[in-house]
Amino acid sequence: MVKIESKDSIIEIGSLLSSSLSEVLSEYKNHNVIVVVDNNTHDACLEYLITSFPGLEKAEIILLPNGEENKVMEVCMQVWNAFTEYGFGRRDLVLNLGGGVVTDMGGFIASIFKRGMNFIHIPTTLLGMVDAAVGGKNGIDLGPYKNQLGSIKKPRNVFIDTAFLSTLPEQEFYNGYAEMLKYGLIHDNSLYNDLKKYSTEKDFNRLENIEKCIQIKVEISEKDLQDVGQRMLLNFGHTFGHAIEGYLLESSPISHGHAVGIGMCAESYISMQRGMLLKEDFDDIQVLLLRTYPFIEFDESEIDGILELMYNDKKNEDGKILSVLLTSIGSASFHNEIMEDEIRLALRYVSMLSASSN
Ligand SMILES: NC(=O)c1ccc[n+]([C@@H]2O[C@H](COP(=O)([O-])OP(=O)(O)OC[C@H]3O[C@@H](n4cnc5c(N)ncnc54)[C@H](O)[C@@H]3O)[C@@H](O)[C@H]2O)c1
Repeated sequence: MVKIESKDSIIEIGSLLSSSLSEVLSEYKNHNVIVVVDNNTHDACLEYLITSFPGLEKAEIILLPNGEENKVMEVCMQVWNAFTEYGFGRRDLVLNLGGGVVTDMGGFIASIFKRGMNFIHIPTTLLGMVDAAVGGKNGIDLGPYKNQLGSIKKPRNVFIDTAFLSTLPEQEFYNGYAEMLKYGLIHDNSLYNDLKKYSTEKDFNRLENIEKCIQIKVEISEKDLQDVGQRMLLNFGHTFGHAIEGYLLESSPISHGHAVGIGMCAESYISMQRGMLLKEDFDDIQVLLLRTYPFIEFDESEIDGILELMYNDKKNEDGKILSVLLTSIGSASFHNEIMEDEIRLALRYVSMLSASSN
């Protein structure tokens, strides 16, 4: 069992059965435990959890509708009303069992209710394990704007058990893979080179790289929990990615990882155009991203629409669009203002690549 401890939070990586979950639950034996799941984790993951920890048989189950489109205030309101009806209080424990949607929303619900209940995350997707469940950001979407409402409060524990990945649909692994590539690109050249070699589904389960990613996320986010400095590095690929994802949400939704994959290519392109990133490094990144994520063709009116969303990004400051740019494979700089012309050029470039993507 690998343990990563940070202020107010402990992450355990390994089998849930040999983790400290039963001790944590014993602290709550005189309180309510509420397990939050979505439709899919209800069917695929809940039984394993409950049969492994008999104390959970009495837990209240809160079932959320799955999918990003349900990461919204209306669903939170229903859950808060249910919490009130059941008489849950601050001393009770919320256990979020699911992907990033469940941990983001379950964490938000718990961190707001009665000014904050304790909560635990048990991520069940690769993306949840390497990213969403770690770092203390909780939140929901507001219309096309991702994670526009939220809170920063760390789960008291995070339990990472890759056994949950056995039921995860294949395409979901590529969401987590995009974030893993991001860590390699901004922070760890050798991780990037290792990830490049992934060829079978089994590779995605490799615990040593999952651990490395969690370490990187903890290291960066601990230094800047409030996201005012270095933590912004973790937004690499997301200035474009969030806008592309938001723009396509109503017409032809794409996954977060897919959008971030295209976004990382666009932001690497700007890095190269500015002379910050070597052309050979850019080519290497482009080949990998093109091989992994289907690129999409955008016409000029779509580029206008994506740009409009970028102007409303919560990461902007004083109306300026900010982005993370690469200085090499394995290092990056944050807080770079990017200009409308550069953005249009980068969007046209990734759009052009759609002809040669898989
Ligand atoms: N808080 C953060 O720091 C942070 C970081 C990155 C991403 N996020 C958020 O995470 C979300 C995306 O997370 P995600 O990719 O995990 O998506 P998700 O939670 O929607 O899960 C993807 C799909 O897989 C299903 N699923 C989950 N676990 C399963 C399992 N073990 N077996 C079978 N099906 C399973 C889910 O029901 C869902 O249909 C986005 O909302 C994003 O904004 C948050």
